[in-house]
Amino acid sequence: MSVPSSSRSWYHTIDLPDGSTTPGWIDTRPVARLVPWPSSLRGGRCLDVGAFDGFWSFEMERRGAAEVVAIDVDDPEELDFAIDYKAAGPEHIREIRAERGPGFAEAKAALGSSAVRRNRSVYDLDPIEDGRFDVVVCGAILLHLRDPVLALERIREVCDGTLVLVELVDPILELFAPRYPSAAVRPYADQWWVTNSPGMEKMLSMGGWDVVQRCPRFLFPYGPSGPSRPDQSWLTGIAARRPGRRGILGRIWLARPRPK
Ligand SMILES: C[S@@+](CC[C@H](N)C(=O)[O-])C[C@H]1O[C@@H](n2cnc3c(N)ncnc32)[C@H](O)[C@@H]1O
Repeated sequence: MSVPSSSRSWYHTIDLPDGSTTPGWIDTRPVARLVPWPSSLRGGRCLDVGAFDGFWSFEMERRGAAEVVAIDVDDPEELDFAIDYKAAGPEHIREIRAERGPGFAEAKAALGSSAVRRNRSVYDLDPIEDGRFDVVVCGAILLHLRDPVLALERIREVCDGTLVLVELVDPILELFAPRYPSAAVRPYADQWWVTNSPGMEKMLSMGGWDVVQRCPRFLFPYGPSGPSRPDQSWLTGIAARRPGRRGILGRIWLARPRPK
């Protein structure tokens, strides 16, 4: 695999037109094939929440979106870190050169993409300033937020169509509390909570959403620069019904704003 010349660390694994692939920490390419994309994507106005290097923005554009807006928070100090991680978290992001923004700009230029990125927190989404969207992709961000339900409420304010929620689920809770809405509190330092499937559906409902589709669980594969010794347990493989396989357990939901 050939890689782009820049020495930044990449979160997303993105195929570029010159045949190179960004050496991401995670590889969301197979996950995009599992999404039951709504028909409103083609020709639609789409939002990518917490875009990082922009994989989902470029994927929606590739699948025919007319306009893509990506939002993320540029300043690591403004991310929701818990109190004992407030200094170390932003410092760590700078140290490993995983800033939000430069990777998106580099991939956007290489792809000739028209996606527009805004330095904007999900908490600040506003229909007057941001407009309204036909499709919103929200990937692996709720677990990093102090207030995921507020984030869901804010996304609802700008969504006229379908939310594609791609989120991690906790393997232990999936296996041992499969019907009880629950969350593991801070399973890893940069996370707040990881729910089980009923827990996520309860949060969606609290945020004003109706779930219209729940897809099967899957394993997010790590990318070329992912951990050599994944810290997720063998339970993830079992919960994903793929014993022996490693990755991060995830699930996709489609939801629509519940009418007020
Ligand atoms: C684990 S990454 C997921 C990236 C991408 N959405 C995906 O699904 O592959 C979480 C992203 O959410 C962003 N993020 C965290 N807090 C945010 C906030 N309050 N508003 C917008 N984005 C945020 C982070 O900067 C990071 O880019």
